[in-house]
Amino acid sequence: MNKSRAIMVNLSTVVSLLLVGCGNSNKDLNSLGINSSIDRYPNSNQLPTLHILPIMVDEDRNLTDKKATYTLKAQKDINVTIESPEGSWITPMWRYNGNPLPLIIKANRGDYLSLKLENRLDADTTIHWHGFKIPADMDGGPDYPVSPKSNKIYSFKIQQPAASLWFHPHPDMQTGKQVYMGLAGVFIIEDNISKELEENNQLPSGSRDVTLLVQDRRFDIEKNGLRRVLYKNMPIDSDGMLGDRVLVNGSILPKHEVGTAQYRYRLYNVSNARSYDFAFNDGREFTVVGTDGGLLNEPTRVDHILLGPAERVEIIVDFSSDSIGSRVMLISRKIEPDLMSREMGVDNSSGRLANGTQLDIMRFDIIKEEEDSVVIYTSLPSRAEISKRLNPQTADNFGNSREFLLSMYKPSGSMGNMGSMDRESMSMLFAINGKIFDPNRVDEYIQANSTEIWSIKNISPMAHPFHAHATQFQIIDRDGVASKGVELGWKDTFLVQPNETIRIIGRFDEVNRGDYMYHCHILEHEDAGMMGYFRVGTTGHIGVQQQ
Ligand code: C2O
Ligand code: CU
Ligand code: CU
Repeated sequence: MNKSRAIMVNLSTVVSLLLVGCGNSNKDLNSLGINSSIDRYPNSNQLPTLHILPIMVDEDRNLTDKKATYTLKAQKDINVTIESPEGSWITPMWRYNGNPLPLIIKANRGDYLSLKLENRLDADTTIHWHGFKIPADMDGGPDYPVSPKSNKIYSFKIQQPAASLWFHPHPDMQTGKQVYMGLAGVFIIEDNISKELEENNQLPSGSRDVTLLVQDRRFDIEKNGLRRVLYKNMPIDSDGMLGDRVLVNGSILPKHEVGTAQYRYRLYNVSNARSYDFAFNDGREFTVVGTDGGLLNEPTRVDHILLGPAERVEIIVDFSSDSIGSRVMLISRKIEPDLMSREMGVDNSSGRLANGTQLDIMRFDIIKEEEDSVVIYTSLPSRAEISKRLNPQTADNFGNSREFLLSMYKPSGSMGNMGSMDRESMSMLFAINGKIFDPNRVDEYIQANSTEIWSIKNISPMAHPFHAHATQFQIIDRDGVASKGVELGWKDTFLVQPNETIRIIGRFDEVNRGDYMYHCHILEHEDAGMMGYFRVGTTGHIGVQQQ
């Protein structure tokens, strides 16, 4: 394989935007940053209604046979109506099964999934099962491309606790584009614990269990009746594709009409590059009950939650003391800009909005009285395997953590140091442990049936969401500060801030033998090669010498 990897990154606006970034006062951050934005829309009575994402039906229509059978056809040019407060337009997107919305698959722990991917695109694609603990050849990485007009059947047993996972294409160097064009979906695993909590009224369920996919996009002006999505039409987009409109379940600034009850929202950041610091415009607290890999042992009250690309939380929002007719906005608080975000600044003329800008995301309109007997669990039943903590001292590499150094190189050398950059030399390479992805190279070797501590250190000037396939992890500490609260949850993706070191611990089991990937989940960084393979056990399929 001898493809040339697009690794040159243009940071040509560094200097001018640095100046812009410094002028902004961050005072509002401290007081929760919330100036009520509720009524600032001229069309505040015309917000689109939130789309509820469709749940696919098991093809054998038998919900108790422990088999989950599905087909996903990856298709392009599906005309999707994008609704916004200013009206609607048609945008051709890439979708599964011709559905204008992203799809949800729900299955139970213990089920065998058999899913046929039909590739009707003009390019290779795959389905990667983000967050799943499954065999390497079913993981849908770039090492198992499905070519146009061909199919692949993904089959594996779901062996992990209830969780809000997702799936998306992962073809070599095209992941960012295919996800951005609209290929991504939700995979909800349920288990006896999650069902028991729902049945016992300890978690909202049914119509009060709502999945929210948050994604930013940039739309072209209307041409021939269509507004196409624009992808990487500016050089700076290679640093991470940021749109200027935020969609929730495919609509811009939608409203969800709710009753005076508690609602469970599965909040997914499935944006290519944008992070969100989710909060409510009135500063209200909410309860986090789940993270990437499943339910939290102890629900945790917070007033905001920061999610990098690919991270998820399950939250409970309580509208029971809101009056009928009132409204509350889900916002993204201003994020203290790191050096890169400032450099990658706001440029509305081009449809680019800096990462970390305060945003309105969606609105909740309290429209009716509702009975609600849910009392959120205070800790999971003791038999819940997910509530166990892995003990770092029992890790197989205790005292010798496996290190992952996230960096941005100038081609000339100086690692991660942007201070020395000048206008003439602003092309960057994204690397892990100093290396750019090579599809024929395994970078890390891990024993099967082992528990490992990984230490991820970000020496670059921007935050990176580090993600590993194969297993779920727990965070031990960040810069030596032990995890607590939401950080105790199982995760597969970790936003690592500049100069931060985070230690995580995970278990690699028998099912994990083979070659898997780790990478930055800013998809443009991943496509540019901020990625590597790790091998669990002694054999794998990557690299000729192993064949
Ligand atoms: Cu969602 Cu390899 O990632
Ligand atoms: Cu993944
Ligand atoms: Cu990155």
